[in-house]
Amino acid sequence: MSKVYVFDHPLIQHKLSYIRDKRTGTKEFRELVDEVASLMAFEITRDLPLEEVEIETPVAIAKSKMLAGKKLGLIPILRAGLGMVDGILKLIPAAKVGHVGLYRDPETLQPVEYYVKLPSDVEERDFIVLDPMLATGGSAAEAINSLKKRGAKNIKLMCIIAAPEGVALVQEAHPDVDIFVAAMDEMLNDHGYIVPGLGDAGDRLFGTK
Ligand code: PRP
Ligand code: URA
Repeated sequence: MSKVYVFDHPLIQHKLSYIRDKRTGTKEFRELVDEVASLMAFEITRDLPLEEVEIETPVAIAKSKMLAGKKLGLIPILRAGLGMVDGILKLIPAAKVGHVGLYRDPETLQPVEYYVKLPSDVEERDFIVLDPMLATGGSAAEAINSLKKRGAKNIKLMCIIAAPEGVALVQEAHPDVDIFVAAMDEMLNDHGYIVPGLGDAGDRLFGTK
């Protein structure tokens, strides 16, 4: 069974409160999602391997550490996952970015795939799938299916807000994929929205409502 990590860092929790607030406008919402994604990436990359290097400082030779060249891939689920990409790239600029386009059918709540473009060396990369919302879990589970079908082996899922139903579905479908969230909310409503959640992440991010 995969693990679920809830990041309780005060900065993440503080910014999340503004993200949830319905008075927060598009510009500020976008900036906050970007910042929270950065802070979460800081935590999620804690286990990246390091290698020892020698660096010549102005004073002496220092034995120092650098990332051991692990290849990373970020996979935003379109649309709302896009809002998390830049914040992570600020910390990991060498990561490649693939895209999985999915929308949730408003009647059935089932994910409908409309676009997939991944880095060519899928089998060599570790991936982080990005989506602010893990509601029923259908979209994330399908995006992970899509990656696995194309050869991805090491995948993490990073969401800002999750519902227990979504976590359970992804854990059931993908017991090898650890899930990282900033908040675990109470439940889904009859329309499949997370309660209390933040509303429609794509609409709030792109101002489409
Ligand atoms: C939202 C959200 C997730 C999905 C979560 O996307 O960004 O991708 O719903 O719901 P689920 O866990 O029940 O699948 P949406 O389908 O609204 O598409 P959009 O990002 O293009 O607006
Ligand atoms: N998608 C969203 O954008 N918000 C939710 O609460 C659920 C799915």
